[in-house]
Amino acid sequence: MVQWTDFERQTIQSIFGKMDYDDVGPAALSRCLIVYPWTQRYFGNFGNLSNAAAIQGNPKVAAHGKTVLQGLVLAVKNMDNIKATFTELSVLHSEKLRVDPDNFRLLADCLTIVVAARMGAAFTPDVQGAFQKFLAIVVCSLCRQYH
Ligand code: HEM
Repeated sequence: MVQWTDFERQTIQSIFGKMDYDDVGPAALSRCLIVYPWTQRYFGNFGNLSNAAAIQGNPKVAAHGKTVLQGLVLAVKNMDNIKATFTELSVLHSEKLRVDPDNFRLLADCLTIVVAARMGAAFTPDVQGAFQKFLAIVVCSLCRQYH
C-alpha cells in the first residue's frame, strides 16, 4: 500500500481543492493532443483536431478534459485505495478504448505543466514531488488491467 505523509496528503487535497477544473482539464488534454499528436488517434469522433487552435477551441476536448479531472478527483477522495478505485477505468482504457498505456504518463506530464504554470512560485519542488507521486500512482493504477 502507498504511504502518504501528512504534507503529501494536504498538498494533493489543496491543489485539487483550489483547482479551476474548467480551465485546467481542457488545458491539460489539449496540450497533450498538441505536443504528442499520435494521442489524437483515440479521439477520432471529436471532430476538428487539425491544429493547435482547433484543438484548444474544440468543445469535445474541453468537456473530456473536465471528465479526466473528475476521474482524478475520485483518486483524491480514495488516496489509500487508488488501485482498486481505478480498476474499471483501467479495464475500459485497456479492453475497450485500447489506449497505449505509455500515453497515461504523457497526459500526466501535461497536467503537471499546466498546474505548475497556474501555481507559479507556490509549485515548489516539495509540492511537485507530492503531485508527481500522486500522478505516478494514478498512471500505475490505470496500467494495472493491461495484460
Ligand atoms: C490521467 C490519465 C487519465 C485519466 C484519469 C482518464 C480518465 C478517463 C475517464 C474518467 C473517462 C470516462 C470514462 C467513462 O465514460 O466511463 C475516460 C475516457 C476516455 N479516455 Fe481517458 N483518462 C486518462 C488518460 C487517457 C489517455 C492518455 C488517453 C488517450 C491518449 C485517453 C483516452 C480516452 C478516451 C478515448 C475515452 C473515451 C472518450 C469518449 O469517447 O467520450 N485517456 N478517461
